[in-house]
Amino acid sequence: MILKIIYSKNKSYLKKVKVIVIYLDNSATSWPKPENVYKEVERVLKNCGNPGRGGHRMALESGKIIFESRQEICEIFNVKDPMRIVFTSNTTQALNMALKGVLKYKDHVITSSMEHNSMIRPLMALKEKGTEITVIKGDENGEIDVENIKKEIRENTKLIAITHASNVTGTIMPIKEIGDIARKNNILFLVDAAQTAGVIPIDVEEFNIDLLAFPGHKGLYGPQGTGGLYIREGIDIIPLIEGGTGSESESIYQPNLMPDKLESGTLNTPGIAGLKEGIKFIKKIKIESIKKHEKNLIKMLIEGLEQIKNVKIYGPKNLDNRTGSVSITVDNMDVGDISYILDKKYNIAARAGLHCAPLAHSTIGTLESGTLRFGIGYFNNIDEIKETIRAIEIICKKNNI
Ligand SMILES: Cc1ncc(COP(=O)(O)O)c(C=O)c1O
Repeated sequence: MILKIIYSKNKSYLKKVKVIVIYLDNSATSWPKPENVYKEVERVLKNCGNPGRGGHRMALESGKIIFESRQEICEIFNVKDPMRIVFTSNTTQALNMALKGVLKYKDHVITSSMEHNSMIRPLMALKEKGTEITVIKGDENGEIDVENIKKEIRENTKLIAITHASNVTGTIMPIKEIGDIARKNNILFLVDAAQTAGVIPIDVEEFNIDLLAFPGHKGLYGPQGTGGLYIREGIDIIPLIEGGTGSESESIYQPNLMPDKLESGTLNTPGIAGLKEGIKFIKKIKIESIKKHEKNLIKMLIEGLEQIKNVKIYGPKNLDNRTGSVSITVDNMDVGDISYILDKKYNIAARAGLHCAPLAHSTIGTLESGTLRFGIGYFNNIDEIKETIRAIEIICKKNNI
């Protein structure tokens, strides 16, 4: 539920009315956040200084918060050393940091056709500079055959870079098998966890993940402007940017110390503090319960939409192989129009278009039309899903008259 603010004619005062919003855009960013996230952001904004940049209490308090947040992140991804977590503004920055920090001229990288542009665009920029890229094509459900990855390994293959789950079809990739292949062949393994961090258990040891790019603002329920990169011990990353770190200030050169080497400039302390509370919330609820709750809603949504004539649902049929990103198209209707009607008439927030993943749409055959995507999150409930199915049913019926 959100407060809608209505202005009077002369805008001299505000009237607030309650409007029920069914938020189904959690694949883009999660909403709402747990109450403690809001509280902690406000507390830190009001009370804290610059982390690592002074010896007074307000600066020290910030430093403590940042460290605690690193520890929380380590706990959910089974990372041993908090100093191997680098904070970024989002997943995109983390992916750029990993790709551009690791790949050199003539290195070969294997990726998939189900990637977000946050992976593909930096790779295309690297290709211009001589990096060799192989894109493994997914099938019509967005699924990747690991045998195709094995076949593409070359002598100069430095990295396998794959999304954990597609943001278009929800398809979950066989991350454990791919990690095993990477490890056996001495290839680095980068995982884009934008759609899975906080939603599916991720264990960097079990899955042999060397580099994990994650958002703070989606399934970890932190504020926007947060994210991070886990970098396995022993992997050296060339910084994307250099600058002040609060450490080794006598030197005019970038320190080699982690995570300072990759964290130049003041961090988003209020956001990172909120992220810490988001993770605490997940730990309390437990990822397995979040997964179970979302799976029930995904099942209900898919089964409901399947009954509606003219609706096509994308992604794997097996619910164990998919996350809460459910994409559909409707015969003879523009997905943008449906999203508009959902918003205006039914207060349902869903996203239409290509979702920054053109290759994924080429893979499933929706590059021309785009899809209407419902992004289910922990705070959604059965009634909201029922109402969404009902709205789509009515929209489809009206369109057929
Ligand atoms: C699979 C995937 N990768 C990367 C991103 C980029 O995430 P961010 O907005 O945190 O940069 C997204 C965003 O939706 C995504 O779904």
